[in-house]
Amino acid sequence: MLNGKRVLLIVTGGIAAYKTPELVRQLIKAGAHVRCVLTKAGEQFVTPLTLSSLSGDKVYTDLFSLTDEHDMGHINLSREADIVLVAPATANALAKMAHGIADDLATTLLLATDKPVLTAPAMNVRMWEHAATRDNVKLLQARGVTMIGPDEGDMACGEWGEGRMSEPEDIVLALNAFFDGEAPLKGFSAVVTSGPTHEAIDPVRYIANRSSGKQGHAIAEALNELGAHVTLVSGPVDLADPQGITVKRVESARDMKAAVDRALPADIAVCAAAVADWRVAGEAEQKMKKDGSATPSFETIENPDILAGLSAPGPNRPRLVVGFAAETESVIEHARAKLAKKGCDWICANDVSPATGTFGGDANTVHLVTRTGVEDWPTQSKRAVARKLAARIAAHLNAEGTATKPGGAG
Ligand code: PMT
Repeated sequence: MLNGKRVLLIVTGGIAAYKTPELVRQLIKAGAHVRCVLTKAGEQFVTPLTLSSLSGDKVYTDLFSLTDEHDMGHINLSREADIVLVAPATANALAKMAHGIADDLATTLLLATDKPVLTAPAMNVRMWEHAATRDNVKLLQARGVTMIGPDEGDMACGEWGEGRMSEPEDIVLALNAFFDGEAPLKGFSAVVTSGPTHEAIDPVRYIANRSSGKQGHAIAEALNELGAHVTLVSGPVDLADPQGITVKRVESARDMKAAVDRALPADIAVCAAAVADWRVAGEAEQKMKKDGSATPSFETIENPDILAGLSAPGPNRPRLVVGFAAETESVIEHARAKLAKKGCDWICANDVSPATGTFGGDANTVHLVTRTGVEDWPTQSKRAVARKLAARIAAHLNAEGTATKPGGAG
């Protein structure tokens, strides 16, 4: 854990530096001692006074300041740290690190340090995707530098893509994981539902919906990346089975429920599948014929509610049950009602009106609704939503420790 660890935070000059006061606050809250080094460009975005007020320590800016060199030269700054964190790490900072350029306090320190270095890159998507940056990142990773993020989403420059600095809580989680020496969800098991269900009318026809499985599969992968043992119960989708995950492919809501029940007990359940609420009563055993008589009409019966079943108190209730709410109007209001009705702990509300492209698309705008409030997440790729949700789940379960509180997650 971060408690008692000394973090040397290097803030370089990107717009994401505005998040560093919050990062310092969260690191201190997690029990770390934080000392900051600010580059000249970094000073354009955040003041030394803000960082020193929050860290309770002097902020170091100048390689050639006699005072800094006298009290605390760059070697001592590194010596007195357990870890060096560069956040934000601009494309320029990564390039200098990769090529051993030392032309200010931050880069000299990075060249001189023998401590583990973690970076949270932040830059425009084109800079992140540029071959030069890709090569620099590879070089740094090969030398043991850890990259935290970046995330995908809207950028200060008005573009959308990968390159946003990870959120402070995700950086804190990554540091915690680094010190723990293991993935934050190691030892936890999860069951995730994904995709649509097909409800048969006869042996060749069925009722379905537009879910592609992209969101649910990404969540299964993100939980697995954080170390959880994941069972993915998927309706019919065109996606390949993710590596390292137990995948159970099913057709109908009833098959999905049976497969979920077989995956229990589990610590975590995330229901991202678009399960058909109804099925046709009395599915025909043979293909229905168009024989000139009246057009068929169907009676429907309600399917079992998998999420509500998982959320019900009992010995097999997962410690954290997360549902999704697919809405086309009054998104938060309806999601709150579903949270209460189904009894899950959190619900990810998303607008699935055709104009949003949520069904089948690559991006999603999620509002995380809990018993205590609503968090509005930016529009981001489904992969980024998944990573954020997995990080939240890990933070919640690790904060909760070993205590099991069915139905009590805030
Ligand atoms: O698959 P993609 O194309 O990537 O799209 C992602 C998504 C839009 C499908 C996903 O983000 C999403 O919103 N999933 C939930 C879809 C849904 O069925 O929502 P709902 O509001 O009808 O249901 C509420 C919750 O109850 C969901 O967690 C659902 O999985 C669950 N449910 C519903 C009915 C049922 N019989 N059993 C259930 O478990």
